[in-house]
Amino acid sequence: MIKEKGSLVVVGTGIRTVGQLTGDTIARLKTSTKVFYIIADLVGEQVIKQIHPAAESLGRFYRLGRNRKEAYDAMVERILGAVREGHRTCCAAYGHPGVFAFPTHEAIRRARAEGYEATMFPAISAEDCLFADLGVDPASSGCQSHEATRFVLFRKVVDPSSSLILWQVGMFGDATYQPEGNRGRWIHLLVERLCEHYPEDHEVTLYEAAVFINCAPRMERIPLAKLIEARLTPATTLYVPPARSSVLDEETCAALGIERAALAR
Ligand SMILES: C[S@@+](CC[C@H](N)C(=O)[O-])C[C@H]1O[C@@H](n2cnc3c(N)ncnc32)[C@H](O)[C@@H]1O
Repeated sequence: MIKEKGSLVVVGTGIRTVGQLTGDTIARLKTSTKVFYIIADLVGEQVIKQIHPAAESLGRFYRLGRNRKEAYDAMVERILGAVREGHRTCCAAYGHPGVFAFPTHEAIRRARAEGYEATMFPAISAEDCLFADLGVDPASSGCQSHEATRFVLFRKVVDPSSSLILWQVGMFGDATYQPEGNRGRWIHLLVERLCEHYPEDHEVTLYEAAVFINCAPRMERIPLAKLIEARLTPATTLYVPPARSSVLDEETCAALGIERAALAR
């Protein structure tokens, strides 16, 4: 008997698995011979288990206080092991599987490098939920999106006329696995950096999309300086609205024959 060649599909469950899991994703979970998942909530985990009872959690690779990268490497190795064994392998991650998700991208890269078919399918991310809940359209003034620690470490260029979305503020400055986050231990460094570009009383939003049906999202508006004492969790994303209007390049606008009124949003 010729052994089937392994393959990999990476799918996302959305943020609220009940409701955001697509029919396409359900079909892939059902038809795969090996399913792994990286999911942060128990309901989402149960949904995956109902669809594919033998599904295996990759969360067990996290070790308290150890660098998260160690867990990611072990996850990738476990996924690749199944592909090499000839499994039609599926890895489901919460949200969009390619958004702020190192192991899923790495598994795809390595599977392809080893000659296996590997595909990622998009899903609803926390940022997609934020746009809907906070009524933000990135087309209005543009939108920057950064991992909070990297934003500070790499001194990313800030444009205060655009929206700014900062991920992983609940584990700011921490590369280790802390299931509850680090409770803002070094968050003052982020606040200091933001205050170089925004006034201290600039209103920012602590955002947590609803994970369960009939629950409301957290949309807590606070002055920027108060971020130091805010309750931050591993699911908190920080939204910083523009602090000033964008400046129009009049010359190019005239050269293109665009009416000012057409630019209003
Ligand atoms: C490792 S990333 C995973 C992102 C996920 N793949 C996605 O597509 O949204 C974890 C970060 O995503 C954001 N996040 C996760 N769940 C969230 C939620 N329910 N509401 C808002 N942001 C969330 C937070 O910034 C969190 O620190």
